[in-house]
Amino acid sequence: MIGGFDEIWRRSLKDPQGFWGDVAEGIDWTRKWDKVLDESRAPFYRWFAGGELNTCYNALDRHVAAGHGARAALIYDSPVTGTQKTYSYDELTERVALCAGALAARGVVKGDRVVIYMPMIAEAAIAMLACARLGAVHSVVFGGFAANELAVRIDDCGPKAIIAGSCGIEPGRIVAYKPLLDAAIEIASHKPDFCLIAQRDAGRAELIPGRDIDWDDALAAATPHDCVPVKATDPLYILYTSGTTGEPKGVVRDNGGHAVALNWSMSNIYNVKSGEVYWAASDVGWVVGHSYIVYAPLLAGCTTILYEGKPVGTPDAGAFWRVIAEHGVKCMFTAPTAFRAIKKEDPDGALIGGYDLSRFESLFLAGERADPDTIQWAERLLGVPVLDHWWQTETGWSIAANCLGLGKIPVKYGSPSRPVPGWDLRVIGENGEEAKTGDIGALVARLPLPPGSLPTLWNAEDRFRAAYLTDYPGYYQTADAGFIDDDGYVFVMSRTDDIINVAGHRLSTGAMEEVLSNHPDVAECAVIGVADPIKGQVPLGFMVLKAGVVRPNADIVGEVVGMVRNDIGPVAAFKTATIVDRLPKTRSGKILRGTMRAIADCEDWKMPATIDDPAILDEIDVALRGIGYGREGS
Ligand code: COA
Ligand code: AMP
Repeated sequence: MIGGFDEIWRRSLKDPQGFWGDVAEGIDWTRKWDKVLDESRAPFYRWFAGGELNTCYNALDRHVAAGHGARAALIYDSPVTGTQKTYSYDELTERVALCAGALAARGVVKGDRVVIYMPMIAEAAIAMLACARLGAVHSVVFGGFAANELAVRIDDCGPKAIIAGSCGIEPGRIVAYKPLLDAAIEIASHKPDFCLIAQRDAGRAELIPGRDIDWDDALAAATPHDCVPVKATDPLYILYTSGTTGEPKGVVRDNGGHAVALNWSMSNIYNVKSGEVYWAASDVGWVVGHSYIVYAPLLAGCTTILYEGKPVGTPDAGAFWRVIAEHGVKCMFTAPTAFRAIKKEDPDGALIGGYDLSRFESLFLAGERADPDTIQWAERLLGVPVLDHWWQTETGWSIAANCLGLGKIPVKYGSPSRPVPGWDLRVIGENGEEAKTGDIGALVARLPLPPGSLPTLWNAEDRFRAAYLTDYPGYYQTADAGFIDDDGYVFVMSRTDDIINVAGHRLSTGAMEEVLSNHPDVAECAVIGVADPIKGQVPLGFMVLKAGVVRPNADIVGEVVGMVRNDIGPVAAFKTATIVDRLPKTRSGKILRGTMRAIADCEDWKMPATIDDPAILDEIDVALRGIGYGREGS
């Protein structure tokens, strides 16, 4: 019997209005809500309708007002530049208010969109919070995306301003962001009024007069701006994520539900309270960075760490232990891939010994399935609970987790534990009925989703309905498949769409196929995700060439690798492709990507009943062995 957790979870489902109404008291409102849950437009539900608040006020000013101004709010720790800087709540509030002032002086007002394209520097968090302060809607684009991806997002959300860094620093190379920004603005039909550029010593950018403004100059001349109250249901941000096509989905996050849920999650899921140090080693370009580098820890009055480095190589596989020890981290959150990278470099954990990890109490993993090997390795070496939890850009916080603050429940390896309060999770089988316990099916959540989850997609309500609400009426479709066992533990097994997870980064193979098919010699192609010992999955391309093409295969492969890097970005990690005569298909012409993946990963597979020509699978097998995959390859 699991005491506190069970009781709270049940109450959250039986009486969501009462439950979340109570939880919402943890946030400061400028106007109290009329209704906890507005169901008038179901299946489009809205939380805290009629309420007004400011998210930045809740993340910063209220802690200053409560007398915690001198407490560390954000620690920027950058092994790649050899610098560290701590911002107290006083200092961070001041910088954010100035940045908001600089934006407002140039016409940014409530509801305007602002794109943020920045490396992991404190200015990225300051820019996000400054937008929130004004009620402007930020849309952060991950720095590993290429100009084209940035342009697509600019055109979709139509920003009044873009805030960028001059460069990012990756081990061994400086990534000049400014030329990528300039190219994106050139490609996009929408043009921003102005760009605010944070110059970095590692690579200063040339500013375009009349359009670009230096961050330091703008803030030096700015008047601090106060918090602008917004509706609970107004958007706080848009975060684009991979969908099943090349068109990314603009996940919208509202202000009220987000603040309520994230603030609650800090003490109840992570067991971290005001004044304690929390570290999410991710990037502000991903949802983990939005929720757990910036908003949640600050809403809860914690100290957050913004780490500009890697788990290995900056300078070694002891980097994480150094950060934990130096800053007194109580709870850390990262992706399993980071731990696999550390395990590979330092399998015996020799580098841990030198650090005092006595204040470290838990490690949370998410972003991809946490393999039991890696969890057990980390448990053994760190001596703290290592907890897998499952969530998505869309949900904004976890769907299933071992809620430490509500009392840890036993760990089952391979499972991110049980649905968290607010989540009524079900498994639907192929027949459209709820699956039996233990049977695999589509993982869906009964509507309404809890606060903090996406209310819609930016300017695309029909797409929102079609992608998430249509296949299983009354439920939200997670696009993950899995099962729930007798004890209510969820097991997330695979995606039901073409999304792959590369080093914890969510990517669409469909988008990569679109790039490959743009090559003039390519007639047809398929991209699949194959298992990788460090990154979890990596993309692998198959191409059928147009009749009469006689150029060397290696040239064509090299060109498409370059095209994916150029069009999507280095983060796609698309490095391998092969040329085949034919692709295996069903009789109705559907490419059998799942079977190709199973062959590449040496898994058992069944000959699909609907296959057009089984002999093609032998050809695929040979091609895979040629590039190090398949039976003899791995
Ligand atoms: N700006 C520009 N380029 C970037 C970038 C950024 N912000 N982030 C990554 N890239 C580039 C990398 O330099 C690399 O380029 P390369 O092909 O020239 O080497 C490429 O994108 C792939 O990067 P990455 O996925 O980070 O792979 P890696 O081999 O450099 O490192 C890990 C592997 C496991 C160490 C790394 O992925 C990692 O730290 N992951 C942590 C997980 C994480 O943050 N997940 C987010 C969700 S929680
Ligand atoms: P993202 O939107 O980038 O956070 O990616 C979300 C997807 O990552 C989910 O739909 C899952 O496919 C996968 N994912 C995230 N966390 C987990 C986990 N703990 N276990 C298994 N898959 C996960």
